[in-house]
Amino acid sequence: MITLDGITKRYDDVTVLDDVCLTVPDGKLTALVGPNGAGKSTLLSIASRLLPTDAGTVHLDGMDVLTARDTEVAQRLAVLRQDNRVAARLSVVDLVRFGRFPYCRGRLRAEDHAAVAEALAYMELDDLRDRYLDQLSGGQRQRAFIAMVLAQDTDHVLLDEPLNNLDMRHAVQMMRRLRDLVTTRGKTVVVVLHDINFAAAHADHVVAMRDGRVVAAGTPQQIVCTDVLQAVYDLTVPVHHVEDQPVAVYFS
Ligand SMILES: Nc1ncnc2c1ncn2[C@@H]1O[C@H](COP(=O)(O)OP(=O)(O)OP(=O)(O)O)[C@@H](O)[C@H]1O
Ligand SMILES: [Mg+2]
Repeated sequence: MITLDGITKRYDDVTVLDDVCLTVPDGKLTALVGPNGAGKSTLLSIASRLLPTDAGTVHLDGMDVLTARDTEVAQRLAVLRQDNRVAARLSVVDLVRFGRFPYCRGRLRAEDHAAVAEALAYMELDDLRDRYLDQLSGGQRQRAFIAMVLAQDTDHVLLDEPLNNLDMRHAVQMMRRLRDLVTTRGKTVVVVLHDINFAAAHADHVVAMRDGRVVAAGTPQQIVCTDVLQAVYDLTVPVHHVEDQPVAVYFS
């Protein structure tokens, strides 16, 4: 279980995370939603130690994430950043091999090659494995980064907007795969999403942020409703139900 307690982040005198407390349940798919600038990426970056916090703690079960050794954290928690910048002259397979670094320090053993092959196949990247990243479409590159995160094979996976650049089919496939990681492999997945309907369809638990705070958390049924969406996004959104699943109609 990941537990964030009292997380506060300031840039100069602007507070972008304000005493955030959040528990991420194990073996569940948690969707983190909220408007641009709400603090979602900042929170994920702090939880995964990519960014220092000004106050608060992050625990993963008994481990103090903010003070633990790098390898210890990297074997338990993997993160996909919102903006991935990496040398363009890197092939897909070499990128995915980075996911094994916490285990083998760059000297891949048979089990590391197997994990890389599995992640490539899982993301349908076999045909693209030797392509350079700058020879890929935006969606293909996004899948390559997710394959790298999966190759890390951690129990806890944090993904910041993994649906970026994905077409309809690949977006649905991605959510089904994340669901599968949770359901059949028992992983704990946190995913930042902008499309609230993907959260409603696939998440067990939805956390809504606004202005650096968690403003609501609960089941998709509890969060994807007109009142909460109004409070989170300042938008009046009719919500219908299709086969008991809430569907927010925010297009018009
Ligand atoms: N390095 C920085 N310096 C100053 N302000 C920053 C910095 N990084 C982020 N912020 C501010 O922190 C706030 C939260 O940013 P964050 O990236 O966490 O939002 P977000 O919820 O991920 O938004 P989005 O949906 O657009 O990705 C924003 O107001 C942003 O402008
Ligand atoms: Mg963000």
